[in-house]
Amino acid sequence: MGDHTAATAVLSEGHTSTDDLSIWPASTTRLTHGGLAIGGVPLAEIADRFGTPAYVLDEGEVRERCRTYRDAFPEADVLYAAKAFLSRAMVRWVREEGLGLDVCSAGELELAVTAGFPPERIVLHGKAKSARDLEVALRLGVGRIVIDSPSEIARIAAAVGADGRQKVMVRVVPGVSAGGHDKIRTGTDDQKFGLSLTDGGAQHTITRVLGQPQLELTGLHCHIGSQITDVKPYLVALRRMVGLMARVRDAHGVVLAELDMGGGHGIAYRPGEPALDLTALARRMRAELVEGCAAAGVAVPRLAVEPGRAIVGPAGVALYRVLTVKHAGEKVFVAVDGGMSDNPRPALCGVRCAPRLIDRASTAGPCTATVVGRHCEAGDVLAAEVELPGDIRPGDLLAVPVAGAYQLSMASGYNLVGRPAVIAVYEGTARTVVRRETLEDFRSQDVGG
Ligand code: LLP
Repeated sequence: MGDHTAATAVLSEGHTSTDDLSIWPASTTRLTHGGLAIGGVPLAEIADRFGTPAYVLDEGEVRERCRTYRDAFPEADVLYAAKAFLSRAMVRWVREEGLGLDVCSAGELELAVTAGFPPERIVLHGKAKSARDLEVALRLGVGRIVIDSPSEIARIAAAVGADGRQKVMVRVVPGVSAGGHDKIRTGTDDQKFGLSLTDGGAQHTITRVLGQPQLELTGLHCHIGSQITDVKPYLVALRRMVGLMARVRDAHGVVLAELDMGGGHGIAYRPGEPALDLTALARRMRAELVEGCAAAGVAVPRLAVEPGRAIVGPAGVALYRVLTVKHAGEKVFVAVDGGMSDNPRPALCGVRCAPRLIDRASTAGPCTATVVGRHCEAGDVLAAEVELPGDIRPGDLLAVPVAGAYQLSMASGYNLVGRPAVIAVYEGTARTVVRRETLEDFRSQDVGG
């Protein structure tokens, strides 16, 4: 990951110092005409062959990131958070690399299991699980169900039935504030997820779960937020979770065997931005766990982590074709053939991406441009005030790195533009793994009436 020695060795002429590939997949290489190749396949060739917008997913990068996690956390379970991006190919890569899976709906669960993922290696989350979510989870034999609210206890127990037994965990809010922005901070009491450590809600729920013979409480879960780049909040949360495990042991004589610390591991979206240091996280969480458990006199539980973004985010690249360029006073608006329907993150979370011209070398000086989507919404801005070649024009190809997480999985049908195709690249070949949504799809879903 992040080693671009090979890429820098084949620098084309005209490349500038701002042309930084540090956040691109490790397989990215520069081509002599100014373009880029990923997984051995030129991006311009992918655009021509498969059309745009398209999402290119570097299978090698996904696999390498899974291995980095396995190596960093040899004594923990690493569960890929499917909400970041899910497809049958992704399910296979994650399974083959030895990870587990975190899902949060019957849809994600069914897709994973029908694609061959072992259900016992899957954890079902969800703020509010529907009857169907629970029915599918129990029918398919999901490994763990994470209880997010006390009202779920009786529902799950009833669905399990008198003779059954289901492994469950309880999601605890440890009172730690962390995360890239306020919509993804989930570690404090003022948000919708989990059961509070401070008001006794978590303890109360645990007591009730332990009273249900149909439920086997294997451990506790917390997820403090997303896009976190600092190790410290994880250590604070971990210490509090171990404290709660000790209290459960004291109150009930029950030793909980598992502790799932969730995901949220931050990555760089633009060159120079910080990312969470995984090796440091793994090492310091382990040390904190061992020390904390020794101090509290509880057995060290098996740790789990649930990374989504850090596995798939940097492995994805979005490809767009420029449709129009408008000069309005000082401003330059570059409109592309996708936008908020394939990437709602800028509009929803206020984040900005770093698009780059990829099909030709330009000798023009740079201009400051705002890259916008094609949608009927003024907030459909992909990247405000970014540097692009001054001769940017309709027909040019733009690529946006770090596009693999929470873009397609949050895509919408707005303006019936259709969700883009996902093209996997690996060792010099490109193939469709999710096909583009078509007019025929819209027609067949809408039954008229
Ligand atoms: N585990 C649980 C229980 C979660 O809720 C999440 C993410 C994860 C794991 C994985 O977090 P990650 O490692 O991917 O940060 N739409 C937002 C992100 C929402 C995250 C939701 N939960 C965004 O685009 O930034």
